[in-house]
Parts: sequence; C-alpha cells; structure tokens
Amino acid sequence: MTQDEMKKNAAWAALEFIPRNTVVGVGTGSTVNHFIDALASIKHDITGAVSSSVQSTEKLKALGIAVLDLNSIDSFSVYVDGADEINAHKHMIKGGGAALTREKIVAAVAERFICIVDETKQVAVLGKFPLPVEVIPMAAAYVARELTKLGGRPVLRDGVTTDNGNVILDVHDLAISKPADLEQKINNIVGVVTNGIFAQRAADMVLVGTAQGTQVIR
Ligand code: A5P
Repeated sequence: MTQDEMKKNAAWAALEFIPRNTVVGVGTGSTVNHFIDALASIKHDITGAVSSSVQSTEKLKALGIAVLDLNSIDSFSVYVDGADEINAHKHMIKGGGAALTREKIVAAVAERFICIVDETKQVAVLGKFPLPVEVIPMAAAYVARELTKLGGRPVLRDGVTTDNGNVILDVHDLAISKPADLEQKINNIVGVVTNGIFAQRAADMVLVGTAQGTQVIR
C-alpha cells in the first residue's frame, strides 16, 4: 500500500466520527484533501465547515460545502487535521504546509481534535521533522537568533508567504523532549506568531492508516 493510500484510508475513516447536522473543522494538507473528498459525500448532512487555510477553503467550496466564518460560531464538536509528526501522547508537529496558525486557531475552538495520519508520521520523540515557526517578516532575523539559542538551526522557508502574510522558519536539529514547555518558550519570543508544536492542544483521537488497515487510538 502506498503512503497516499494509507492517508486516504485514515481520512475516510474519520467520517464515522463526524456528528451530523453540525459544523466540521477542517485542517490542511494532502491527508485533509482526502478528508474533504469524504466530507463531500455527506455534505447534505452537515451544516458546513470552518477552514484552516485558503487552500482548504477553495477545495471545500469547489465541492459544494459551505464555509463559515469562525467568528460566527461559539464552538463546534470536531476538528479533523493531519500532522507531520505525532508521538504517543498525541502531541504533534504541524505546519509542513505553512497553515499552522489558522490550524491552531480552529483547533482551539473545537471540542475534539481528530488527527488523521499515515503510519510514517508516528515518532517516539518529536523533532526530526523541522519545526515550522510562523514569524512576522521584520522579526525573522531576531527570532532566528533566539531559536538558535534554544539549540535549533532555523532555516527560512524559501519563497513562502503564509495566508496571514508572514514567513516560516523551519527549525532543524531539535529533539523535543518536553513539547508543551518548548511550545510555550517559542511562543514567548517577540515576533513569533505561532509555532508548529501542538502539545498544549494535543489531539484527542488519532486515526492511523497502516498497511494492515486503519488503527484508532483513543
Ligand atoms: C499543514 O500546515 C500541516 O499542518 C499539515 O497538517 C501537515 O503538514 C500534514 O500534511 P500532509 O497531510 O500533507 O502530510
């Protein structure tokens, strides 16, 4: 089975956990693209979606799913998104697609976060995948120096501007033993908008596409 087939299986498995007649939170990425295809198959049974990126918004609309403004909603039950890495505590690194800030905002409003991944994303310790940090452009050099002091090797992601008009520093060489602590530390650097550690708001459930089928981790 290919990696993309495992992503697709995890994404379609998420349908079972989507309550009907509610708003659904939608993440970003290639796994989520499969989830949006799946969601389109039940579009008449949901109220609509809140989206975490321009890319997902365009795909949702193209498939006839209403996209609602997050500010018009007090809460909703389920947010579905992928991850670049996930550990046994359901802490994640996200942001490979540069959508981390809106993903973290939508995830914060959701009652439950369902993470959909293929088995290659499971790790013992986060950090092999370079940690994305969204930064206000004028602060990029300062933030890079501060991230170096924390032991990382930040590299500006070439040619990428986020949906919020910012830049991304990908931080290499981190072995993240205390994800929640590092998440907070990096967020405290002036000029950082968000970092891609999702530990303070971890996933609640993980659907892992494997060669043997989709595993549910509650
Ligand atoms: C988008 O910014 C990311 O957080 C994605 O959720 C993550 O990169 C997973 O992407 P894939 O589903 O494409 O692997």
